[in-house]
Amino acid sequence: MSEKLWDGRFSEKTDTLVEAFTASVDIDGRLYAYDIEGSIAHCKMLAKSSIITEDEASSLIQGLEKIKAEIETGQFQFDDTLEDVHMNIEARLGEIVGTVARKLHTARSRNDQVALDVRMYLRAETANIISRLTELRKVIVRLAKPHTDAVLPGYTHLQRAQPVLFSHHLMAYYEMFSRDAERFRDCLGRTDVMPLGAAALAGTTYPIDRHYTAELLDFPKVSANSIDSVSDRDFIIEFLSAASICMMHLSRMSEELILWSSSEFAFIELSDAFTTGSSIMPQKKNPDVPELVRGKTGSVFGHLFAMLTMMKSLPLAYNRDMQEDKKPLFEATDTLQACIEIYIRMLPNMKISKETMLHAASEGFLNATDMADYLAAKGMPFREAHNCAGRAVSYALNQKKELHELTLEDLKSFSSLISEDIFEFLTIEQMINRRTSFGGTASENVMAAVREAEKELANI
Ligand code: ARG
Repeated sequence: MSEKLWDGRFSEKTDTLVEAFTASVDIDGRLYAYDIEGSIAHCKMLAKSSIITEDEASSLIQGLEKIKAEIETGQFQFDDTLEDVHMNIEARLGEIVGTVARKLHTARSRNDQVALDVRMYLRAETANIISRLTELRKVIVRLAKPHTDAVLPGYTHLQRAQPVLFSHHLMAYYEMFSRDAERFRDCLGRTDVMPLGAAALAGTTYPIDRHYTAELLDFPKVSANSIDSVSDRDFIIEFLSAASICMMHLSRMSEELILWSSSEFAFIELSDAFTTGSSIMPQKKNPDVPELVRGKTGSVFGHLFAMLTMMKSLPLAYNRDMQEDKKPLFEATDTLQACIEIYIRMLPNMKISKETMLHAASEGFLNATDMADYLAAKGMPFREAHNCAGRAVSYALNQKKELHELTLEDLKSFSSLISEDIFEFLTIEQMINRRTSFGGTASENVMAAVREAEKELANI
């Protein structure tokens, strides 16, 4: 068993079960690069503030760099009995540089150290997520652009409602992922705050220069209150909340892709590379990828709740409970990135069946609202027009016909305002292209939205 870095006041050895129970290095070992970078900046600051000498700082820094190389080449043995990543590194530093290693932790505590490491980790991951979301948005726009002539039934209550352009439907997801990126950018502002120097909770008696440490680590802000610095995990909760919303969006898209690739819809076909077969039914081609994204969404929501519940009612400042923040955070980050990545690859490879979509948009009375609009345009109050079109639908249903398949005489029996021009009015093309209200599905609008998105993406 290794010697503890905190065992001065202890006369008994730690119970081995307690050692295993309190250890977190199997999870937080992943933070090693940030831990080392933070420690190097801390050494430089200590030397600049004349708390340690330049020579001491440079041997500490050389030792830390050696440890980094050891970890990266697989020579470093993480030891459970040393609890966490911070103490593993510090203990090894002692072996490399000798007693001067004991100066590294001057004016610092693991409480502010871990807060720093997690913030450094999360700002890097968040920046990566934002840039992968940009790629996903590009993929969506690239898919929307050539499909401004494909029509599908738009749904409400999963009932066919009104025809919309396929591109318009896709661009709805563009909006969602754009908001996600914005949310992550917003979180990033509150993650990018430097907590080191808060020490255990009260600050330190040493003449440290926290702003210099922040500058070295490229943090635009320094945390203002030492107690808050070590007890705050809001930035993780905010990130998990943004991640949950983003996963919720991905799960909605997944659900649509699953439905659309069923033979009941048959609007799209996912490529073979993104589907799997059944071990018993030779005909099956299963949409496992979107199904798994839909399934993984639940675990990300769970991580958000684990964090909220863990932080609820915790007294200030640091409590060991907070060590449990890393697992949900790391798992959610990995899951979200994997899901975004697979969507970036999968979407461009799916086939779109324009004819089936158009066929589905042509039946089911998707032009009933337009018949009401037609009558309203000819002077009938809209509520009355709605009722009149409803009666026409009921009649057509009995005849097993669509509205546009009724004869002019049949239609005229519902209102004398109806004339030959109604047939033109009720074509899908006209229905779509009349919806020119800002944000509506008319092709000119959708093409403008695509152009706008292209401009937005080119400026990132
Ligand atoms: N492993 C701990 C964590 O992740 C580091 C901080 C421990 N601080 C302490 N006073 N025990 O939260």
